[in-house]
Amino acid sequence: MCGIVGYIGTQAASSILLEGLRKLEYRGYDSAGIATVHEGQIQCVRAKGKLQNLEDKLAGLENPARLGIGHTRWATHGKPEEYNAHPHMDTAYRIAVVQNGIIENYRELREDLKAKGHEFRSETDTEVIPHLIAECMAHPVADQGQSLSYQSPFLEAVRQAVNQLEGAFALAVICADYPDELITVRQQAPLAIGFGQGEFFCASDTPALVAHTRAVLPLENGELARLTPLGVEVYTFGGERLKKFPRTLNWNPILVEKQGFKHFMLKEIYEQPGVVRACLEAYLRNDWAPEQSQVSPLNLNLPAVWADQLAHIQIVACGTSWHAGLVGKYLLEQLAGVPTQVHYASEFRYAPPPLTPHTLTIGVTQSGETADTLSALDMERQRRQGQPPDYQPHLLGITNRTDSTLATIVEHLINTHAGIEIGVAATKTFTAQLVAFYCLALELAYRRRTLSPTAIAPILDGLRQLPAQMELILESQERYIEELSHEFVDTQDFIFLGRGINFPIALEGALKLKEISYIHAEGYPAGEMKHGPIALLDAKVPVVAIAMPGAVYEKVISNAQEAKARDALLIGVTVSQDEHASEVFDRLLPIPVVDELLSPLLTVVPLQLLAYHIAARRGLDVDQPRNLAKSVTVE
Ligand code: F6R
Repeated sequence: MCGIVGYIGTQAASSILLEGLRKLEYRGYDSAGIATVHEGQIQCVRAKGKLQNLEDKLAGLENPARLGIGHTRWATHGKPEEYNAHPHMDTAYRIAVVQNGIIENYRELREDLKAKGHEFRSETDTEVIPHLIAECMAHPVADQGQSLSYQSPFLEAVRQAVNQLEGAFALAVICADYPDELITVRQQAPLAIGFGQGEFFCASDTPALVAHTRAVLPLENGELARLTPLGVEVYTFGGERLKKFPRTLNWNPILVEKQGFKHFMLKEIYEQPGVVRACLEAYLRNDWAPEQSQVSPLNLNLPAVWADQLAHIQIVACGTSWHAGLVGKYLLEQLAGVPTQVHYASEFRYAPPPLTPHTLTIGVTQSGETADTLSALDMERQRRQGQPPDYQPHLLGITNRTDSTLATIVEHLINTHAGIEIGVAATKTFTAQLVAFYCLALELAYRRRTLSPTAIAPILDGLRQLPAQMELILESQERYIEELSHEFVDTQDFIFLGRGINFPIALEGALKLKEISYIHAEGYPAGEMKHGPIALLDAKVPVVAIAMPGAVYEKVISNAQEAKARDALLIGVTVSQDEHASEVFDRLLPIPVVDELLSPLLTVVPLQLLAYHIAARRGLDVDQPRNLAKSVTVE
């Protein structure tokens, strides 16, 4: 949600900034801008809309500046217009700021600064920051922590300004009078510094850094850093100098390229078999056999107490990760016998359930930066601290980004090993989250003895077959689904039905379709359709039903037939050997034979492909759908 970059060094800054913004465009694309310092002046160029508009504006402009900052925006305060685009500047155009986050007390600050003569030019919360820094430079405050003015009056002014800001924010700041300094700040929004040879970078996320360096230092909350051509100094907001060293990222820049696929989303759908394989390899013990019942078949290294005394699990998440949480609930309850609630993180925070003893709280977030999820986890930790021992917090994170803020909040992480996901619509990170839940549920089932080793063994075998089965779906189905998508180019509404463990997949299929194709889509538990949504059905509303042989198969088929009786076109996701299916469904999306328990990892694949091809056929920007951002760092 907004991406910021910064550069100081020996190369032309503007092309490095643009290249970095390209890698961060998934975080927002309402507008973009860069500001650079050269010969005592700031040059600021901004454009409404996608980064390409900024690139077009900059084309042909000579800019030798070696210091600069850049921004790609997901609008919060103020319309997505050029005058609201970052960077924002002070009245005298000497200071430029880019921000990711929200300044909660901007109204008071704005009124105060206006009264002091500062001229505002945008509707944004961010604009208070350059004015406030200018004010702190002109009138330093004496008694705020340890002054850094002996290092740099600019650094000290930024420090004094950020101490007056409330909210969650990451900043990069430059000043025309300090051509050798780039100041970066982090408070509850991600920011990492990249170390090159005589050059330094900062960015909201590491994909913008890996083309230049693998030596990266993520700032922590309440820290600011001064980047100069000579090095990086890190301080607390209180002015205390910290000793910090970069660590080496284990990253391949090729992962952030499309590698011949038309869109990142399609590439990421195709990466799923590999991702599931990697995740299983990480957590399943290869040499385990049911006879060795004294050893867990899983390798999650969870604290023993989490399994032995566990009475409740609560899951907090948003969007697609919330859907993964629903599958997780099914598995944790049905396999491990632990009562589990799944909460929208944004709701949990303001209406938390009463405290229960021996409770494990799981935050699911692929980015590890979703503000609602992080706040919910943080709140849960705080409200349990100081309670009797049985109520102490136990926090587990399931994430694809072990370097994210989530890691600083929870005690233990399950890494989903999916690799960076660039397409805004989550695909491979969702299937990886599902694998993490299978592993967790089986680990708890083993430790709590709700499943015997001989009952666990066939589930593990089934899991191991999934990557090849996913490959089969991709090989055999994509072409057909591409053709099928032609039928739905003008469709306005879709219904997705599922039951039991596949109900969350119906929700996920609907979410994928609506977010990238802008077609209205509802996911429903199949049995609920007759209690209302059936009124929506007619020949213009296709119904996708996930009908997997198992406990609820006949029920789903009956529900599908109720839809057919209302003239709806029926699309069935079912196993390839189901002869009965072709009589019921008008179109079939067959998947290999699989146990119902493991089926979500397969049933979701044709739904992802369907959403992708419908959106691509409608000529839409699949990787960057309107109004969305990949990492939602505001509440
Ligand atoms: C949908 C999608 C979003 C995210 C949600 C949570 O395709 O990507 O719904 O799932 O914003 O994001 P994370 O998992 O990063 O917390």
